Amino acid sequence: MSTKRASMNSTETAKDSKLRRRSPAAVQHEETANTTLSSCHTFHDPAEVARLRSQLLSWYDEGKRDLPWRTVALTEPDLNIRTYAVWVSEIMLQQTQVATVIDYYNRWMQRWPTVQSLAAATLEEVNQMWAGLGYYSRGRRLHEGAQKVVTELKGQIPRTVESLLKQLPGVGRYTAGAIGSIALGEVTGVVDGNVIRVLCRLRAIGADSTSPAVMEALWGLGNALVDPGRPGDFNQALMELGARVCTPKGAQCSRCPLRSHCRSYRKVHIRQEANCERLLGKLDKIPPTLPDIEDCTSPKSCALCPTEPWDDALGVQNFPRKPAKKAPRAERTLTCVVVGSGDGAEQQVLLTQRPEKGLLAGMWEFPSVLLEGDSSETKHKGALCAKVGRMLGVKLNRNLLHDVGEVVHVFSHIHQTYVVFAVSLKDCGADGLIQAENTQWISRSALHKAAVSTGVKKILKLYDSTASCEGETSGGKRKKNTKSAVSKKTPRGAVSDGRRQLSLGNFFRRVKEEP
Ligand code: ADE
Repeated sequence: MSTKRASMNSTETAKDSKLRRRSPAAVQHEETANTTLSSCHTFHDPAEVARLRSQLLSWYDEGKRDLPWRTVALTEPDLNIRTYAVWVSEIMLQQTQVATVIDYYNRWMQRWPTVQSLAAATLEEVNQMWAGLGYYSRGRRLHEGAQKVVTELKGQIPRTVESLLKQLPGVGRYTAGAIGSIALGEVTGVVDGNVIRVLCRLRAIGADSTSPAVMEALWGLGNALVDPGRPGDFNQALMELGARVCTPKGAQCSRCPLRSHCRSYRKVHIRQEANCERLLGKLDKIPPTLPDIEDCTSPKSCALCPTEPWDDALGVQNFPRKPAKKAPRAERTLTCVVVGSGDGAEQQVLLTQRPEKGLLAGMWEFPSVLLEGDSSETKHKGALCAKVGRMLGVKLNRNLLHDVGEVVHVFSHIHQTYVVFAVSLKDCGADGLIQAENTQWISRSALHKAAVSTGVKKILKLYDSTASCEGETSGGKRKKNTKSAVSKKTPRGAVSDGRRQLSLGNFFRRVKEEP
């Protein structure tokens, strides 16, 4: 595939691109990194940097994935449309894998091909289109950003990394760098999860990769390495290398175009050779921690060197290091499926909206009470009854709540058990479907398709399974379901607001995601 790209604007030539301005932030980070770091963790030979750029870009040109946003970045002559297209892709790609994003991206761009068309959409339509991608605030901010561009910036999306960062909601350092380099040809590096891994391995950076010192060093490296002639391609090539070759587990070093520059790869080889020699009895006087001339000269005081010893079994996967994840805290929540028959034949259930801040902010759920402190589950059941009673305008007796069972849902940081009860409107003496503040009645079939959290979907599924076994809720005791539905964690640390959710019109007054 051709490597010629639409970089700065439609009239720019390849020759002009060599004269491109280096991003001021990039220059500053590069300088800081180079003056304070041990040479082991940087690239100090310009000839080596030139070789690395050329090897990486050749590898990318030969086998890069054909992704729709890349095609737009290469072929779209209109700078505003190109920037918008890359902006959309980068927001979707935050916390979501490429394979999942492609279909959403194509549908989005078909419906809203320009920033003006997105600005004219409603938030409800945006949420509907976003449903299933998770982290709904991304779509909301993109929409807010489009409206800001149209109403405050005369329809022109900012054209520098600095102004993208300042002006657009939801655009941080990484996203601004990615849009700036890919759509606008600004010479700036980017550091995302894949790039962190590649750079940490290349330069043997083994300290906690979330620490400020490591992050600054990585931005410095990214800015020093980025190819001034093809910054966007270079950045995407680094990400692609991390996604396809220099993977978290099972790194395929034999296919890596950068292995001759990689300190981790070199270390693995030196140690393998030493171990071989030792086995053959030739090296018995050489200590097992054979120093390499390219090792850091002051590892004990270095902010980038690992604090833990090298593990031969891990090979290059000794890098990067992250602090151990905290185990999710256990929580129990009592929740109640309130069933009413509504006007039509179909059963309706009652939902209430979560607070505007915090976990699953603004999303709809069954009325619930979180178990807190030392109070018993029975006391909390009383609190749940009071809550539901207030919503229905009745005094609700605890005995009317039937046990349904338990559902487990694991968020990134919470191991949540929902203790599920059910009550029918008929049994509690309420007349009709009362509409209290922050509540909604919704048919069960609509709820199956609505943009609600995975926890709510699981509770509904459990309720459905018992309802279909025993007939509908009203009257009679329900048998407790003792099976607990344990969710797999959603991929890439994404939290629980469910994948593959569809929109429900009036749910989207303000749908947000958990932090
Ligand atoms: N992840 C983030 N941005 C990307 C891009 N432009 N191509 C592939 N993966 C990405």
